[in-house]
Amino acid sequence: MQNILITGGAGFIGCNFVRYILNCEPDISVTVFDKLTYAGRLENLAAVSENFGARYHFVQGDICDAAKVEETVSARNIDTIVNFAAETHVDRSILDPDAFVQTDVYGTYVLLEAARKFGNLRFHQISTDEVYGHIEGHRRSVENDALAPRSPYAASKASADLFVNAYHVTYDLPVTVSRGANNIGPYQYPEKVVPLFITNALESIHLPVYGDGQQMRDYQYVADHCAAIYLILLRGTIGESYNIGTGAEMTNLAMVEILLEELDKPRALIQHVEDRLGHDRRYSLDVSKILALGWEPDYTPEEAIRSTARWYRDNRWWWQPIRDGEFKDYYESVYGARKKLEPH
Ligand code: NAD
Ligand code: DAU
Repeated sequence: MQNILITGGAGFIGCNFVRYILNCEPDISVTVFDKLTYAGRLENLAAVSENFGARYHFVQGDICDAAKVEETVSARNIDTIVNFAAETHVDRSILDPDAFVQTDVYGTYVLLEAARKFGNLRFHQISTDEVYGHIEGHRRSVENDALAPRSPYAASKASADLFVNAYHVTYDLPVTVSRGANNIGPYQYPEKVVPLFITNALESIHLPVYGDGQQMRDYQYVADHCAAIYLILLRGTIGESYNIGTGAEMTNLAMVEILLEELDKPRALIQHVEDRLGHDRRYSLDVSKILALGWEPDYTPEEAIRSTARWYRDNRWWWQPIRDGEFKDYYESVYGARKKLEPH
């Protein structure tokens, strides 16, 4: 692993991973390949460009553009591809699934083809716990469970996982897949629930909790996720998938209580609203396999929420321009006409 292509590296997890791997691997050269959608932001990588200039290169491009992908793989002498690039927000996938099918499914196929054409490059796919669908009772998802996605986003990610596996079986492509639980931390676009609620709270705007707020998520700190991905690149078994999460879920309302307390904001900001269509009530990962590989998270979900709340409180320069831009129309389209519910 000397010349790594990190697609989607200007997004939330991608930019954290770029920092992480440049710090871990003194000789590695990183090429970020990113379309710069609303979620991809060059300011996320400004410090990387300053601190690691000689080992960092940025290409603006679409992973659906095979010619541009191949030109980059060839010109940068790439030996490893890590695919973070995706449309990632469930609510946007409900409004308009088209870009999800394009980028998450077709784009992944384009990258797999490039990896195959250039001599079976090492390929790691960043996937999600959402591919397992809603998990009932006390069960936890294990890596060889059947995939049962329920949102357009989850269906597109599950399709990509199947393609990655097919390229391993058919062409012997050296692949691994990681399926992460909800990430939180610095540079997450404020459409996702934790940064949305933190930034709403900092502006004393209501926090729109979907339905009863009893849905369960495993909120893991992004740096922990990055460490696990790096470990899989170093020591993962080719052809295998790995769940990544703390293994401890909490309800959305519990998450809200923690962030309001950290920011010293009142519970009166909570506003229950009409639920998300097809809302998965619970994800729950069995993480024994990644633990056995030698990883463990540094942050509990509560520590991750508190640390994230402090980052947004202290870095208004990053999120205020986002909230004042495209985000306003998006917010109106998802929340404007949404029915308010009585307190639960
Ligand atoms: P993000 O939305 O913050 O960033 C996505 C990045 O991909 C952006 O930089 C965007 O510009 C880029 N991109 C989108 N379409 C592209 C295209 N066609 N070509 C090139 N670049 C394109 O996403 P994130 O939260 O950082 O998620 C990264 C990956 O991790 C995704 O694959 C997502 O499915 C997965 N994941 C996310 C979470 C989470 O909680 N955020 C959890 C598990 C897995
Ligand atoms: O589980 C991993 C997935 O986590 C990733 O693959 C996705 O890319 C990422 O977006 C995230 O999906 P979720 O749907 O779980 O995340 P989101 O932040 O949208 O919502 C988290 C929970 O909070 C979910 O139960 C819905 C609820 N929610 C969300 C929003 C945006 C609300 O109650 N109100 C809101 O306004």
